[in-house]
Amino acid sequence: MQPDLRLRGYLGRALSHELAAIQQYLMQAKLVGLWGMAEMSERICKDVQEELIHAERLMERMLVLGIPSNATLLPPVRTGRNVEEMWQINRLLEIEAIHLYEEASQYCARIRDTETQLLFDEIMREEMGHLGELEGLLSTQRKGRKA
Ligand SMILES: [Fe+2]
Ligand SMILES: [Fe+2]
Repeated sequence: MQPDLRLRGYLGRALSHELAAIQQYLMQAKLVGLWGMAEMSERICKDVQEELIHAERLMERMLVLGIPSNATLLPPVRTGRNVEEMWQINRLLEIEAIHLYEEASQYCARIRDTETQLLFDEIMREEMGHLGELEGLLSTQRKGRKA
């Protein structure tokens, strides 16, 4: 059976997103390390690990469905000039991911691919967790500025 073309597109876009997030977060982890913030660098490295697991899970699913991995073009890395800008940039990336996984999940429901839908839903929930964390960091940052 030939894999569904649109599903193939969603999986490819999702994998590109995860690899882009890995590249961006890893670069940021190294950058804040250079700024002397070792603890924050470690925290961002944990995010990299989580995005890596997403990429692995998507690749496994693509292999099962016979879809070649095709993330050939990654968007440019955006690091931000300071920590607050970094969180804002990453917040937007996580929002984009949530929209993508939401749309992909709805499509899977339409074609009755429950297994891939479950995967998209699980990753989406984790991206929502990332978004929540970033929003928490941003509000702490803002409060710190007001104090
Ligand atoms: Fe992710
Ligand atoms: Fe994420």
